[in-house]
Amino acid sequence: MENKVKSIGVLTSGGDAPGMNAAIRAVVRTAMSRGVKVYGVMRGYNGLIDGDIVELNLRSVSDIIHRGGTVLYTARSPMFKTEEGMKMAVDTCKRLGIGGIAVIGGDGSFRGASELTKNGINCIGIPGTIDNDIAATEYTIGYDTAMNTAVEMVDKLRDTTQSHDRCSVVEVMGRHAGYLALESGIAVGATAILVPEIEYDFQKDIIDKIRNTQHAGKKHFIIVVAEGVGGVEELAKKIEEETGIESRATILGHVQRGGRPTVRDRDMASRMGYHAANLLCDGIGNRIVSYRSGKIVDDDIYEALAMKKPFDFDGYKIADTISI
Ligand code: ADP
Ligand code: F6P
Repeated sequence: MENKVKSIGVLTSGGDAPGMNAAIRAVVRTAMSRGVKVYGVMRGYNGLIDGDIVELNLRSVSDIIHRGGTVLYTARSPMFKTEEGMKMAVDTCKRLGIGGIAVIGGDGSFRGASELTKNGINCIGIPGTIDNDIAATEYTIGYDTAMNTAVEMVDKLRDTTQSHDRCSVVEVMGRHAGYLALESGIAVGATAILVPEIEYDFQKDIIDKIRNTQHAGKKHFIIVVAEGVGGVEELAKKIEEETGIESRATILGHVQRGGRPTVRDRDMASRMGYHAANLLCDGIGNRIVSYRSGKIVDDDIYEALAMKKPFDFDGYKIADTISI
């Protein structure tokens, strides 16, 4: 299709996620393959406001596909939510002739992207967050790497938990969502998994569970708790008081946001970046790129943000059944 723009921008916004660099690379190289100039906007929407923008070329995105973090840096920009901030951002785009922007981030960043589109600058969202909490897409860039990091960490914890016949209560990230906790919990063979989507009963879901597995011969226990449930220190204390089993709490924290992206994250990011850049070059905006039923698709931002993501209750039941 004929290009509708001469230049586009790319930015990363909100929490970073492994694989964002691969998405930046794909956006740059796809647009350039169509003869479209690409600008890198530094530190999310702040770069648009401050005019902190660099022109990228094929070599500026060399040697980044395998690196965690984001070479464009990222930020949360309260100023961008103001009328004044928005005006400054639009003025920067007009001054540089930026006809569209690929926004790599989470749902907050997509709200910003739809506001910018309303103000005349076409934006396409690319889902990048370790939380996998964007309803329109079955997959968000960074999720697989974060899960693998969490699993690697809990595997290490298991060694010491086992040596001491202890119980480890581990908090994994995910903001308000339990996807990261559930899948990594299944993968580490957790005795119990607590997620914000399912209310839990301390006696039935933790103490009885520990007792039952103890009767079945288990001597150490891993309880995976989503950040949205929280309270791991208190929980560990209560478990120890109730069962007499020495318990320790561990918060994995931001280590889950770093590291070399896995194959899945590099692959998804490359495909999504390619799709987004083509939409922008075609003069299309206000859409989010998604992965659904094995395909890369795109949806209207407002419709996508209104969607509800179903929780994997089957996965939860499976974990509960086989954790004995
Ligand atoms: P994430 O993209 O990871 O969900 P945030 O929710 O922190 O991260 O949002 C990232 C940035 O997106 C915010 O700092 C702000 O600049 C922008 N943003 C979020 N909501 C809006 C909005 N309603 N209008 C304009 N900008 C927004
Ligand atoms: O959205 C990604 C995420 O890592 C969440 O899992 C977590 O709640 C949040 O960001 C932490 O944000 P910050 O980097 O501001 O501490």
